[in-house]
This record gives sequence, structure tokens and C-alpha cells, in this order.
Amino acid sequence: FGQDAAAGEKVFAKCKACHVSDTDQNKIGPSLKGLLGRTAGSHEGFKYSAAMADAGKGGMVWDETTLATYLHDPKGVVKGTKMAFVGLKADKDVADVIAYLKQFSP
Ligand code: HEM
Repeated sequence: FGQDAAAGEKVFAKCKACHVSDTDQNKIGPSLKGLLGRTAGSHEGFKYSAAMADAGKGGMVWDETTLATYLHDPKGVVKGTKMAFVGLKADKDVADVIAYLKQFSP
């Protein structure tokens, strides 16, 4: 499968209740603007779980690999995360939503 940002925008509908992608506004979840290349748990002004803050302190950076594993199984990858989302099952949905989020990253 390829990475399809337009398809990813549709997948992002599942994230929108809690996240924005195009501004720095935090909602229930942190803004995902500039996500690729960002240290986990580091968006200014958002109160993360200890688990997510610790993941970042441990050196976790959001790239295609870490995002793919986290989005498949958030609670399995960051044990104790307060993101109340089961994750995405389909590899294509994961790849596409990452392609979508990349557009808002440096
Ligand atoms: C955290 C992505 C759906 C609530 C995060 C992080 C990412 C992410 C990458 C870590 C951000 C960082 O370290 O700054 C996504 C994507 C989603 C999605 C791509 C859809 C496929 C949701 C939904 C909710 C939610 C539906 C609310 C029900 C949160 C919260 C955090 C978070 C509260 C902070 C976690 C913590 O501090 O442990 N999300 N998310 N997310 N997300 Fe989501």
C-alpha cells in the first residue's frame, strides 16, 4: 500500500474529537501539529500522563516507526497512557494517517 494523505484525512476523523493537526491548540489530547520529529510528551501546555512524559524522557521520538506501533496499540506501547482510544487495526489506515500528519510537520 502507498501512503495516501487524502485517505489519511478521513482516518483522522477518528482522532478529531481529541486532537487538532493544523494549529497548536490542545483539546482532550495534545495538538498533533509538528508531530513528526517531536519528542513524545512534549507539546507545550498539555498535561500528559506520567507514562507519556516518561516515554519522552526515555528518548522516544515520533517518527513513522514509533507512530505506527503506538497507533496500532496505544496502551500496549505506552503502558499507562491516558489516550482513551483502542487504536487503528488496518496497516493502511495507520500509514495514511501518518502521511496526513506529515503534512503539518517540518
Ligand atoms: C496522545 C495520536 C485518537 C486522546 C497522542 C499522541 C499521539 C496521538 C501521536 C502522543 C502525542 C505527544 O506525545 O505529544 C492520535 C491519533 C488518533 C488519536 C493519530 C486517531 C487515529 C485519540 C482520541 C482521543 C485521544 C480519539 C480521545 C478519546 C489523547 C490523549 C493523549 C493522546 C489524552 C495524551 C496521552 C498521554 O498523556 O498519555 N495521540 N490520537 N487520542 N491522545 Fe491521541
